[in-house]
Amino acid sequence: MKILVTGGLGFIGSHTVVELQNEGFEVVVIDNLSNSSEDVLKGIEAITGKKPLFEKLDLRDKAAVQDFFKKHADVNGVIHFAASKAVGESVGNPLLYYENNISALVYILQELEKKENANFIFSSSCTVYGQAKTMPINEGSEVQPAMSPYGNTKQIGEEIITDVAKVSGINAILLRYFNPIGAHPSAEIGELPLGIPQNLVPFITQTGIGLRKELLVYGNDYPTPDGTCIRDYIHVVDLAKAHVVALQRLLNKKNQDKVETFNLGTGVGSSVLEVINAFEKVSGKKLAYRIVDRREGDVTLAYADTTKANDVLGWKTQSTLEQAMESAWKWEQKIRS
Ligand code: UD1
Repeated sequence: MKILVTGGLGFIGSHTVVELQNEGFEVVVIDNLSNSSEDVLKGIEAITGKKPLFEKLDLRDKAAVQDFFKKHADVNGVIHFAASKAVGESVGNPLLYYENNISALVYILQELEKKENANFIFSSSCTVYGQAKTMPINEGSEVQPAMSPYGNTKQIGEEIITDVAKVSGINAILLRYFNPIGAHPSAEIGELPLGIPQNLVPFITQTGIGLRKELLVYGNDYPTPDGTCIRDYIHVVDLAKAHVVALQRLLNKKNQDKVETFNLGTGVGSSVLEVINAFEKVSGKKLAYRIVDRREGDVTLAYADTTKANDVLGWKTQSTLEQAMESAWKWEQKIRS
């Protein structure tokens, strides 16, 4: 079984390649290295004993996408991670986001549409729910108008896939991630943010290692027990495993609809201060941080109802927040040593 993983050298992509190879799948990775490095292939090989096939390719190049599918006509499934994901950048450069996240998706689907059967897994985000009215958030929660071009690309992406699946042999699963964190326990692969991290956990570990002076905590006047925002932080290895389970569901034709949607989270909400505490506990370090104003666009509270993923996919998270923070810290120490 040959599986295409786009963005397979990125954070979630690389961890998914590892889990796929561990399950015996043959993997071909497409990546344009815009936010990753070829060294990740070595990390994957160190863990699994096998280097995946790799095609350096930009999915905005329609002819290159067509050529790829001619060359790899035997691909049985596609897991599509390749996308840009910085919310602030998307506000400043929306067309980059629409081209990277939408044009690329269309070009891949155009090739899959030609096949009698195709299996497609899409990286979506809990951002589609905005500030949900009730917690935990289940898949029936209302999708709210996107607050950024990035968020909009996830919503439009879901809609495009749904429309195309209706009139083609494509079966798809949309995976709405909560907040992926951590690294492989071997510390052979992990998150490699370019420049100043926008996300909480890489900012914490970079502060812990001395690369940043202090963490700015964006607001402690939210209506939560300690005043800081609450999110559902999921270990990236747990998240990666969910992709393998979802893919097997499609390959075994166990899906009940042409397009199915699952929330992927732990079901547990943690505040920013709780994440800091977990870091301090596993690292034995005091973290320098300061409370500042709220960040525009942040929702107060978001954590997943995991019932559907647990019952229908038969998947559930294994790792705790502390284990995830421990792996993130081990990775940070390794890449700075
Ligand atoms: C963000 C995006 C989300 C996207 C995801 C992809 C926003 C508003 N949301 O999720 O759409 O799918 O990244 O990775 O950008 N925090 C601090 N200090 C920091 C960084 C973060 O206090 O330096 C706080 C934030 O206010 C938030 C929490 O930490 O409460 C998590 O932030 P982050 O890691 O950026 O994730 P989200 O904002 O949930």
